[in-house]
Amino acid sequence: MTESLRDIGYDFSSAVADLIDNSISAGAGKVRVDMEFDGESSRVFICDNGAGMTVNGVIESLRFGSRREYELGDLGRYGLGLKTASLSQGRSVTVVSRSSRMKDPQIHRLDLDVIAEYDDWIVVVPPADTSVIRARELLAGDPGTVVIWEKLDRILPARQATGGWAKRRFDGLREKLKTHLSMVFHRFISGEGSAREIEIWVDDERLTAWDPFQRHEVETKELGPEAFEVMAGDLAGKVHLRRFILPSRNAFSSAEAFDEASGPLKWNRQQGLYIYRANRLVQWGGWGGTRAVDEHTKLARASIDFDTDLDSAFNINVAKMRVALPPQLKQMLGRPISELCILANNAYRVDAPRRRNHAVGGMSPEVSNGAEIGLAIKAALVRTGNFDALAAISDLLKEESPELARSLGF
Ligand SMILES: Nc1ncnc2c1ncn2[C@@H]1O[C@H](COP(=O)(O)OP(=O)(O)OP(=O)(O)O)[C@@H](O)[C@H]1O
Ligand SMILES: [Mg+2]
Repeated sequence: MTESLRDIGYDFSSAVADLIDNSISAGAGKVRVDMEFDGESSRVFICDNGAGMTVNGVIESLRFGSRREYELGDLGRYGLGLKTASLSQGRSVTVVSRSSRMKDPQIHRLDLDVIAEYDDWIVVVPPADTSVIRARELLAGDPGTVVIWEKLDRILPARQATGGWAKRRFDGLREKLKTHLSMVFHRFISGEGSAREIEIWVDDERLTAWDPFQRHEVETKELGPEAFEVMAGDLAGKVHLRRFILPSRNAFSSAEAFDEASGPLKWNRQQGLYIYRANRLVQWGGWGGTRAVDEHTKLARASIDFDTDLDSAFNINVAKMRVALPPQLKQMLGRPISELCILANNAYRVDAPRRRNHAVGGMSPEVSNGAEIGLAIKAALVRTGNFDALAAISDLLKEESPELARSLGF
């Protein structure tokens, strides 16, 4: 079971992010990730100044399916994250934690090699090795928690753990991690809205927030916000939508700013929905099954916010990396997303190089796409409240010119 639980879909960055969720839940104001390269002895420390854990808390934290109460907005949910995220990267995880009532930190370790050797679920108290000593230093005398990852077999495969290749891989992961955390926790880093502000450091670099919506750019436009009610069992929860059109390349403050705004997956794949669970970004890029990614709509990005009361409706996975939009919400998002994409398409075309007029019937290529025109007409009718007119036009066209109706998408 332990071996199979290593493969539930974390990569290095998302595994670290899951531990930072724990730090946020524990009320930390500062989190620090230290990545030390030392061949096979390489290790990662994730350190916070949160409330820490009691003696039993540390042991409980290493149990699969740890028990505790979760409040609304709590980033934890399954009682699995610490173990599954840590063991997905290495064979040994150590928790060093001190609550405000304790003088000495509690230290416990889960080591897959020990478990394999004794064929038993053994949590050990490790000797004061260099990792433990370093963790104590990081805690100084204060409450907080340090999680240590060692035997990093998934990061540095045993045969190649030393040397230039391994070092480059380690350094590459560090850079990826920075980008990932700056995005996933951007609201916490900048203390936006109801997110409590935290500092996140990777080694000696303090991360700055990467805003997917580039709201500091003067030409970024926001359409009106919308809210939807979604049912989860007998309970109803609110989902909030905010829509943004980012400036086209020429309208950006600088070429560098435009490149930076493109994000880790680059412009095309970063378009679409940014889904936040209790202020933490859990999914980004793409339209959540409501439409396809398209070069013409790459300037469109929208945030969707839900709170933990809707976890079951959104089917949040253990790694907090993926959700599924509830079908009822998908339907309600159709119109506002179409609107956004039409306007983003316009913004994109302002920049597009002029093309020769080679479309059928002398129509310019800009207006040769029936589905787009149809969508624009539909969106306009819906926005002006002319629902009956929409139905009437659609019926008439279908009857009198089915071909045209089809090409317009009616
Ligand atoms: N940094 C931390 N500071 C204080 N307590 C922690 C910290 N990390 C973990 N814990 C405690 O250990 C428990 C287990 O953590 P774990 O991440 O495995 O599960 P979870 O956060 O409850 O749920 P999820 O599986 O959704 O992450 C937590 O519920 C919390 O009580
Ligand atoms: Mg957790």
